[in-house]
Amino acid sequence: MEHKTINLKLKVWRQANTNAPGEFVTYDANNISTEMSFLEMFDVLNERLITEGKDPIAFDHDCREGICGMCSMHINGRAHGPWKGTTTCQLHMRAFKDGETITVEPWRAAAFPVIKDLSVNRSAFDRIQQAGGYVSVNTGNAQDGNALPIDKDKADAAFAAAACIGCGACVAACKNSSAMLFTSAKVSQYALLPQGEPERNSRVLNMVAQMDKEGFGACTNTGACEAECPKEISLSNIARLNREYLSAQLSL
Ligand code: SF4
Ligand code: FES
Repeated sequence: MEHKTINLKLKVWRQANTNAPGEFVTYDANNISTEMSFLEMFDVLNERLITEGKDPIAFDHDCREGICGMCSMHINGRAHGPWKGTTTCQLHMRAFKDGETITVEPWRAAAFPVIKDLSVNRSAFDRIQQAGGYVSVNTGNAQDGNALPIDKDKADAAFAAAACIGCGACVAACKNSSAMLFTSAKVSQYALLPQGEPERNSRVLNMVAQMDKEGFGACTNTGACEAECPKEISLSNIARLNREYLSAQLSL
């Protein structure tokens, strides 16, 4: 496999804290291997900044395997960068050309305040999840896996919705900062399964109420969320949330 190095300029948003003004700062990132991930490129840059006695760039990361949803950032105006269905940690430097300038910003949404540099506070998502993202279970021994037959199509759709990693790219990509794709994925993964039945109505009402309380905008069906979602969560979940919400309201 061809192993290349490239020289880049990085325009990175630096912001000392939530209330500081923030500005773009340009850095040279030279001799970057095209085999590196985007986050490894930041690691190399931060090592250099630390050696020079400068403040390293704050960014969130955890699994670096596309699972945890922490590595949230806008790269050249795209949530998680240019590759479809890919988180920033799985994005590799071969996606960029030698001599390119790459602009990196945090998510921009009132409900996701910047903590520092590229790191934002996504606890609004945790509170939406806490409002209804659970099921009631009886304690005791686990049931046999086949005790509750589930239609294969529904099981597959529930599994696809459960793939949402809560990264917030859907909000960041939306001109209204709507959290409908995230919330609809969380509602759908339970609404499709018999285990979700006990809290079916209260779940959707409470999660939507919490979403509105957190200051996310309204969904106007632009589809930007689905296009930028690294887990390719389908817009059909939003249609399901709307049906679930209407039916829950009628049951009041
Ligand atoms: S729906 Fe997609 S973009 Fe939104 S939080 Fe879930 S994984 Fe991220
Ligand atoms: S660091 Fe976990 S998804 Fe990117």
